[in-house]
Amino acid sequence: RARDGVDVVFVDRSGRHIPVKGKVGESVLYLAHRCDIDLEGACESSLACSTCHVYVSTEFLDKLPDPDEREDDMLDMAPLLQENSRLGCQIILTPELNGAVFTLPKVTRNFYVDGHVPKPH
Ligand code: FES
Repeated sequence: RARDGVDVVFVDRSGRHIPVKGKVGESVLYLAHRCDIDLEGACESSLACSTCHVYVSTEFLDKLPDPDEREDDMLDMAPLLQENSRLGCQIILTPELNGAVFTLPKVTRNFYVDGHVPKPH
């Protein structure tokens, strides 16, 4: 049904804007994977990593439920944390999120672990 669609935009690590159509009830991580967006999600939504870290366009932040304690704990371990940081696997699409923009941070923790990016001093 058309009204179950949620139009959102991903901004990938190269700054490219990718408009996609999500479905009410699916997570931002699931949507990203479905649309071949390069969002990691190493722990498959079990709140045991921070690689699904995204920035939420700030005008949509208050449309999301507050992060629970476990999400906050995981976010604390994410590099490049910002006020509008959330875990993509914990954001469930609702009609209110129509128009939201989710930006991928330049690095995630796994990049550090894999040694692709030097740790900041
Ligand atoms: Fe690991 Fe979201 S996929 S916390």
